Amino acid sequence: MREVVVRQTEQEITQEVCGIFRGIIRESVEERKTCSLSLAGGTTPRKLYQALARGCAVDDTPWSDVEVFFGDERDVPQDHVESNYGMVQRTLLDHLPIQPAHVHPMPADADDLDAAAAGYEQHIREVVEVGKDGIPRFDLILLGMGAEGYVASIFPFTDAATEEEKLVMACFVPVLGRKRMTFTFSLINAARHIILLVTGSDKAEVVDRILGRDQEARKTLPAARIAPADGKLIIALDYPAARAAGLKPERGTQ
Ligand code: 6PG
Repeated sequence: MREVVVRQTEQEITQEVCGIFRGIIRESVEERKTCSLSLAGGTTPRKLYQALARGCAVDDTPWSDVEVFFGDERDVPQDHVESNYGMVQRTLLDHLPIQPAHVHPMPADADDLDAAAAGYEQHIREVVEVGKDGIPRFDLILLGMGAEGYVASIFPFTDAATEEEKLVMACFVPVLGRKRMTFTFSLINAARHIILLVTGSDKAEVVDRILGRDQEARKTLPAARIAPADGKLIIALDYPAARAAGLKPERGTQ
């Protein structure tokens, strides 16, 4: 199932996603006493984290029952300025009643990145309940999208874009000249809920293509291959990102 939510501005869509985010966490904890969450790096997700943190004082979300994982990570130590874990810790986790033992950083600066990715996948299996297909089923995976159409660290034309067995993998990203660790499509598309949050006119053309107007998109744009097998995909856009696709903003509910 897919829902596209459009709001006039980045601030409005970020506020809207805050409400959706909290609602999914509340529903997951009510139904299963836990919520398995995977977070993304980048400037767009960072603004969401800042908005969630700002609202935490009046927020009854059961954050202490949330397990926090990371959908991708750069090959840097956790205290490095480029670390997704470090950014999420500073902008969100330091402000919420999340148990430190429930935060699971990706070991993307390990010497043997392949072994570290396999270890993280095993750790996910130990914490996140598996679905009927034997794949761990996250309650909520947040994704941003790069202007080239990548999600997590699944970049076009890389091994991660064609991987069908591994759930977490290390890969070299030629366009960056660096290694990354990332969830693969198999793990992402097993989730109950996926929120793809995209803002800004620089991504409008890719948004138009991933929304199905370009059959070639699935081959070249990883974001076009985000389709939960038995879950809900919420594509959250501000009007500048939605405009090329001919989508108009609706009024917010948050
Ligand atoms: C990363 C992210 C990446 C990001 C998108 C959106 O490690 O960079 O996980 O997938 O979410 O590229 O980033 P921006 O919002 O900064 O464009």
